[in-house]
Amino acid sequence: MQLLTERYSLTDRIFAIILRLEKKRLTIVEKAYSIRGEMCTTDCHTLMRSGVFCVEIKGEGGSCLALIEAKDVVKKYKVGSEIITALDGISLSIERGEFVAILGTSGCGKSTLLNMLSGLERPTKGDIIVNGVRINKVSEKNMSRFRAKEMGFIFQQYNLIPSLTALENVMLPLTIQGISKKNRIKRSRDILIKLGLGKRLHNKPGQMSGGQQQRVSIARSLVSNPKIIFADEPTGNLDSKTTIEILEFMQEIVRTEHKTLIMVSHDAEVAMYAGRIVHMLDGRITGIEERTENIAKLNGAAEGENA
Ligand SMILES: Nc1ncnc2c1ncn2[C@@H]1O[C@H](COP(=O)(O)OP(=O)(O)O)[C@@H](O)[C@H]1O
Ligand SMILES: [Mg+2]
Repeated sequence: MQLLTERYSLTDRIFAIILRLEKKRLTIVEKAYSIRGEMCTTDCHTLMRSGVFCVEIKGEGGSCLALIEAKDVVKKYKVGSEIITALDGISLSIERGEFVAILGTSGCGKSTLLNMLSGLERPTKGDIIVNGVRINKVSEKNMSRFRAKEMGFIFQQYNLIPSLTALENVMLPLTIQGISKKNRIKRSRDILIKLGLGKRLHNKPGQMSGGQQQRVSIARSLVSNPKIIFADEPTGNLDSKTTIEILEFMQEIVRTEHKTLIMVSHDAEVAMYAGRIVHMLDGRITGIEERTENIAKLNGAAEGENA
């Protein structure tokens, strides 16, 4: 019999519900746990991933365990003899199904923070925990696998391959995952049709408008069904009408597909579409603003669907 809590330090106790290994089965000894002041008592299940043990806790209002957590994250870059502090002690908690905007002027560290949260870069100090996994301790190889499975990316420049059609671009992440061609085509086609691009399947990026290209890149980010979507200035190259279209569309994805969306922007009008706005300045969080109206829109309608 082994108490798995021994693997964790005190600060990890949020994940370490007391579990006991009995007859090759994990038995939950204690279910109730305090998370951000709430008590969660129902429906625990366990996951084994990348050799890291984690526990997911679900309460009545859905999961109350943070999906992404940054703990006192510092990122410094050395440029010549100069040290640049891009992130200066960031702590942030993001829950499942949230649409969070990170807002701040150019150079304040938004993209750096996004790269940390998605494990593209490692912090100089601090921890990033995603779905119970301390990703800054995960090897590069396991991290790319984790990213391919759990995360989708949308960029300002769309990052589509110009010589490939919309369909082929969307199929790419599935090719990397070794999914059969028939399946790749079906899944990519279905998602492009859902995004209103049924007539553009065989167009190359150069034959599409900016808004259409960004929709292709959104389709690509969703095709492998990741839990989390990261978007870095996704509307930076779009006119205002298309910007609204794309942002409303992203809200729709959070609402209907129950994705967690983290979007970076320097534009307050763009950030207004999120449920929470994290304000950043000089590598620090200066405030977090809740937009209750949006939260209701992002969650409320989904509850209606389940009713
Ligand atoms: N790879 C890097 N090497 C050196 N400095 C960097 C690197 N990436 C970002 N920085 C610096 O870190 C700061 C934050 O950059 P960034 O996160 O890109 O800001 P934002 O996305 O908010 O515009 C800036 O001063 C930038 O010059
Ligand atoms: Mg940036």
